[in-house]
Formats: sequence, C-alpha cells, structure tokens
Amino acid sequence: MEIKVQPKLIIHGGAGSSLRGKGGLETVRRSLYQVIEEIYSLLESGTSAKEAVLRGCQLLEDDPRFNAGTGSVLQSDGQIRMSASLMDGTSQSFSGVINVSRVKNPIDLAIALQNSPDRVLSDYGAAELARELQIPSYNGLTELRLQEWIKERQDNFKRTMAGVVAEAELVETSHSNARRGTIGVVALDTYGKLAAGTSTGGKGFERIGRVSDSAMPAGNYATKYAAVSCTGIGEDIIDECLATRVVVRVTDGLSLKEAMQRSFTEAQEHKRDFGAIALDASGAIAWGKTSDALLAAYHNGEKIGDTLELPVGTEVGHILSCEC
Ligand code: GLY
Repeated sequence: MEIKVQPKLIIHGGAGSSLRGKGGLETVRRSLYQVIEEIYSLLESGTSAKEAVLRGCQLLEDDPRFNAGTGSVLQSDGQIRMSASLMDGTSQSFSGVINVSRVKNPIDLAIALQNSPDRVLSDYGAAELARELQIPSYNGLTELRLQEWIKERQDNFKRTMAGVVAEAELVETSHSNARRGTIGVVALDTYGKLAAGTSTGGKGFERIGRVSDSAMPAGNYATKYAAVSCTGIGEDIIDECLATRVVVRVTDGLSLKEAMQRSFTEAQEHKRDFGAIALDASGAIAWGKTSDALLAAYHNGEKIGDTLELPVGTEVGHILSCEC
C-alpha cells in the first residue's frame, strides 16, 4: 500500500520588476490564489502530481494576465509562438513543445507526448500533433498584448522582453519596467510523487525561431527527489541550466535549501535575471530570485502564502516549510 503524505504545491506567474505601486498586485494575488485553491484540493483528494500540474498549467495558461496560452506575448513578426513542458519526477520523463501556434493550452501537447518515443516537438511537428489530437484551432491574442506590440514596433523594439503581466497601465510603462513572463506549477502528491510544468509565450519581440528555456530541462526539471520550474530571461536560465542544477544537487545529497542557495549565489555572481520555484520529496518548499519580483504562491498544507511583496533585490532560497 502506498504511503500518504501531506501534498505541497507552488506555482508562479512570472518574474520581473516589482508590481508595487502599479495597482496590479492584488489582482495577480487573486489569480494565483484561485489556482492554488483549486489545484491543492485536487491534490488532497488524491489527484497525481502530474495531473495536478497539467490542470494548474491549463488554468494559468487560460488567464490572459499571464504570458502563456491566452495572453501570450507577440514575437518580432507579430505572431504568437508558445512553448511548454512537463516532467514527471517518478518516471523522470520530460516532454514538451517548442514554438507552437494556434492552440489554447500548449501544456496539453506536452502531456500527450509523455509516453511517446519522440518527446519534444517543434513548430510543424507540434502543429501536426495538435491536428492528430483534434485540438481545435485557437487564437490566444489579447488586445493588451497587441497594443504592447504596436507600441514596441513604434519604438523599434528597443525592449528586450515584453511585460510579464498584461495590465492596461503596463502598456504605458517605460522600458525599465520590462518584465519576464512564464507560468509554472510544481506539485508533491499524496503518494509522495513530484512533477513540474512550465509554459510561456517567450520573451516577446524575439526573432523567429528563438527557443525558450521553458521547453528545456534547464527551465523545467524533476526527479523523484526534487522538482523545479523557472521563469525569467531564458538565455540566463539556459546558461545556468538552473532547474537541472538545483535538482541534481538535491539528488546528490544537498538539502533543497542548500541547493537553491548555492545555485542562486552563483546566479547572482553571474548577474542573471530570473526566478525559480521548487519542492523536494520531503515536502520542503523553496523559491529564489535574482529578478526584482517573483510572482509565486504556494500551499504548505496549512496555509496559502505568496512571494509578491518580497523586497526588491536578490532573495535567495526562502524555505517556507520543511518536513524532513
Ligand atoms: N523564460 C521564458 C523565456 O525566456 O522564453
């Protein structure tokens, strides 16, 4: 008989500059808490970590505020191309899609590839998979993202990334308020199993063919020991191989806190711009960021909390709960 453990859950809606004073903080908090409540109750009723991650990613992709699924940012040519991946820690199986268009939930394609011999598909292959699965064509473009792109085109695409959160006021913000969007879900289920999922519309305004970290083990990774989802500048995440780095450190015997602290100290030295959320099999919850803000929320079995009002500047490896 399988042992029952206290489920744990942490999710994110991106990382970037602070939301303080921009009026969006409470709205983002409400969005994240709704997802936490729904997905945590699924975990409590025995839903597997993999299924909980799938449902959590779908909900976040469907929220036009976040840069994934509906509300994805536009690339330099004005098109939406999304990437998503899912990793089941128990089978240590990674699957994902890169630069897929015209689907509502890219994470549906990622999970469909879990047991396939070809587990990561890009543009044409991902479109063909969507056709095979009879997934209807869907346009995730929102008016706010279109306006953001038009403004950037007028400015000759000076910004390096689009806004992480789509709010009317953010369309008017200055270049220094550039944000980094992605969504992610990491879950520990009642059977002690871990999974991680990540989905994104990319950086925004990027050249055609650019590949996001979100559909690479650098940005989303899980074993039976730990699971991590990253957000922020994809190139920085790839250069640190962040999710895999943290998980391998835990697999090699470091605590989650030590693994996050060591990885984020290195990231700070290398002037990286990102954040990550993590769980380990003992139920420890952790997050880290080098960005000003990380839009994350969690359920530790007792209460819901979030990282929305952390001080600006590097905050490393906050452990919210440890049941080692
Ligand atoms: N981390 C999302 C991206 O850079 O595409």
